[in-house]
Amino acid sequence: RDTCRQPEEYVKGIPLIKSFAEALGPLQSFQPQPDDLLISTYPKSGTTWVSQILDMIYQGGDLQKCHRAPIFIRVPFLEFKAPGLPSGLETLKETPAPRLLKTHLPLALLPQSLLDRKIKVVYVARNAKDVAVSYYHFYCMAKVHPDPGTWDSFLEKFMAGKVCYGSWYQHVQEWWELSRTHPVLYLFYEDMKEVRPPVPNPKREIQKIMEFVGRSLPEEIVDHIVQHTSFEEMKKNPMTNYTTVPQDVMDHDISPFMRRGVAGDWKTTFTVAQSERFDADYAEKMTGWERSFCSQL
Ligand code: PPS
Repeated sequence: RDTCRQPEEYVKGIPLIKSFAEALGPLQSFQPQPDDLLISTYPKSGTTWVSQILDMIYQGGDLQKCHRAPIFIRVPFLEFKAPGLPSGLETLKETPAPRLLKTHLPLALLPQSLLDRKIKVVYVARNAKDVAVSYYHFYCMAKVHPDPGTWDSFLEKFMAGKVCYGSWYQHVQEWWELSRTHPVLYLFYEDMKEVRPPVPNPKREIQKIMEFVGRSLPEEIVDHIVQHTSFEEMKKNPMTNYTTVPQDVMDHDISPFMRRGVAGDWKTTFTVAQSERFDADYAEKMTGWERSFCSQL
């Protein structure tokens, strides 16, 4: 069962799955096209959700067109490389323009050409505690990762930035900083979940995304996108729920990829002691930060 598990390797101080680290070399000469759109996130922050929203927008709300392939083919994952599966760069070769691209890379590892060419970015940040819980379950089920050990030991590694892609704290901050000089639409998972009149979310965030990518669609099509990008719909859709991935790579019996899809799920997992320790560490690492990512939850 654990045949795919790989060690992590440090690149510029950032832990990465070994085969992803190997993909970085060829990726540095990646040449973006002007109409590429990059979806950037720290893992487990709503990447698949926003990817499906964007593909539905690009396909004019036509769900059948979005059924053409699984999400990881429709939205190539730049640094992805794993034995026996097409790499992100290979998938990209078959992807027609205008392309949607996915990455979790911190800026230090991102191909410079994406920045130089001012490629538009949709960034999604999610509450750190929910990310940690989601990431733990993902480490258990996605067998490219090393064994995560106990929840408690994983949480320590998460706080220390010693998990794949490094520090959550640094990631959300540096991409925020980038938005001052680069076209970045910075979204929050919690905003997308929030239901608040007069325009309840996720519709409001979907409208922001459409404006950012310069697309407009009739109101009923936007409603249709809202409906088909709900957690419930995406959980049962094989083109978004990752069940087409071989079981020795992702074992959905251990944990489904579409697990809970809520804000505040950390409360079912963190002990009071873990939460207090996390909050103290968070306050230190996020001092002076413009928006609190977890205190309101
Ligand atoms: S990955 O592997 O990093 O690309 O994962 P990512 O897609 O970023 O994050 C997976 C989590 O997002 C939840 N998810 C959703 N939540 C709400 N609505 C929709 N439509 C949706 N789609 C995916 C998914 O369930 C994972 O979160 P958890 O907390 O584990 O359920």
